Amino acid sequence: MRIAMIGAGYVGLVSGACLADFGHDVVCIDRDPTKIAALEQGRMPIYEPGLESLVADNVRQGRLSFRTELREAVAGADAVFIAVGTPSRRGDGFADLSFVHDAAREIAGALSGYTVVVTKSTVPVGTGDEVERIIRETVSQAEFAVVSNPEFLREGAAIGDFKRPDRIVVGTEDPRAEAVMREVYRPLYLNASPILVTGRRTAELTKYAANAFLAAKITFINEMADLCEAVGADVQQVARGIGLDGRIGTKFLHAGPGYGGSCFPKDTLALAKTAQDHGMPLRIVETVVAVNDQRKRAMARKVIRACGGSVRGKTIALLGLTFKPDTDDMREAPSLAIAAGLQDGGAKVRAYDPEGIEQARPLLPAVSFAEDAYSCAEGADAVVIVTEWNAFRALDLKRLHMAMRTPVLVDLRNIYDPAIAAQHGFAYQGVGRSAGTASTSEA
Ligand code: UGA
Repeated sequence: MRIAMIGAGYVGLVSGACLADFGHDVVCIDRDPTKIAALEQGRMPIYEPGLESLVADNVRQGRLSFRTELREAVAGADAVFIAVGTPSRRGDGFADLSFVHDAAREIAGALSGYTVVVTKSTVPVGTGDEVERIIRETVSQAEFAVVSNPEFLREGAAIGDFKRPDRIVVGTEDPRAEAVMREVYRPLYLNASPILVTGRRTAELTKYAANAFLAAKITFINEMADLCEAVGADVQQVARGIGLDGRIGTKFLHAGPGYGGSCFPKDTLALAKTAQDHGMPLRIVETVVAVNDQRKRAMARKVIRACGGSVRGKTIALLGLTFKPDTDDMREAPSLAIAAGLQDGGAKVRAYDPEGIEQARPLLPAVSFAEDAYSCAEGADAVVIVTEWNAFRALDLKRLHMAMRTPVLVDLRNIYDPAIAAQHGFAYQGVGRSAGTASTSEA
C-alpha cells in the first residue's frame, strides 16, 4: 500500500516508520524543512528507543522517505494519515485543530482517485466530520472517505506499542475504507491484534475515554497514597491487592508525583471541555484534572516537609526531569512544578536527567544541571527522585550518602526499599508508604 503520513512528530514518525516496516511504501511529510533535512540524514527529532535504527532500515530498503511537500505523495496514496499536532488552545484548554484543518485543505487539493484520509492525531469528537466537510468544500468531486484511527502508543515504548497493540480502533461506516484500513494493518491482524470497527465519532471518543480513564486510575492511586501516609498503610501493597482483581488490573497503579506528558493533561482537559459544551459535564474527569494539577505542586511541599519544614538556603538535587523515563519530553512534567515550588521556598535546585537536560534547560532557567546523579547530589540537603530512569534504580547508596550534606532521600517513584535506604543512613520518604516500612513481596 502507498501511505502518506502528514506530520513527522511523535505519532507520525513512529507510525510512519512502523507502517514502512510492515512493508508499505510510506512518505512522511512535514512542513518544517530542518526536521526533514535532519531525518534525511538519519537524525531523529525526538528520543525514542529503537526509532533511529527502524527509520534507517526502512529508508535503506526504499520503503520510507521524507518530504516537505505533500502533493505528490498524497496524489499517489491509498491512505493519507493526518498526524499533526493538536496543542491545547491558550486560555480554554480546548484542542487547537488549526493544523488538522490546514492539512485537510492541503490534502483536498492533491487528492487523485479513491483515497482514505485517516485522522491519527487525537482529535475531539466531530473532527472527522469537519475534515470531510473541508475536503468536500475544496474539491466537490473527490472520491474519499475520512476515517478515525486513534493511536494508543506510549512515549518510550512507542514502537512496541504500535507493533503489538492491544487493539486497533477504526472509525468508519464506509466498507471500502474499512477494507483499506484492514489491509494497512494486515500484519497486525495476522498477529491476532483485534480490530474494532466503530462509527467515526465513537472512535474519536474512545481515544479520549481511554486516556481519561487511565489518568483517573493514576489519580485514584495517588490520592490513595496520601491516605496511606495518613493512616500508616502501604500504597504499593494496596495497589497489588486491588490490582489482582481482574476487573481492576495491576497496570497504571503506580503512585507518584502526578501524571504529565503531552497526552493525559491535554486530553483530559479537552474531553472535559467537549462534555461541558454538550451540557454533559464529566465531573470525575474535571476532578482528576484539578487533583493532578494540585498534586504536582504538593510534591514540592512534601520535599520541604522532609527537609524539616524549610528549604531556604538549602540545595536540593532532583534526579529525573522528564515526565517519565526513556523520553526527552518535558511537557507538563511534574519536575517543573516541583522545581518552582522549591525555588519559591528559597532552595537552590540542581538537577540531572539522562536525556532531558537539553529540553529542560530553557524551561528551568534558575536550575543548575549536573553530569550524573552523584555530582548532582554533591553537598545537597536532599535528593529527590522525580523520574524513575533505570539509571536511578540501582544507585550506590553509600556513595550517594557520602556526597550529600544531609542524607534526605525523597523517592517520588517508590523505587527504593525504605528499609534499605534507612540502613544506609537516609531519612527516607516515599509516596504512600510510611518511612521504614518495606514492601513485602508476594509469597
Ligand atoms: C499515554 C497513554 O498511555 C497512551 O496509551 C496514549 O497513546 C498516549 O498517552 C497518547 O495519547 O498519545 P504517554 O503520555 O506516552 O502515553 O505516557 P504514559 O506511560 O501513559 O505515562 C503518562 C504519565 O502517567 C507519566 O507522567 C507517568 O509517570 C504517569 N504514570 C503512569 C503514573 O504516575 N503512574 C502509573 O501507574 C502510570
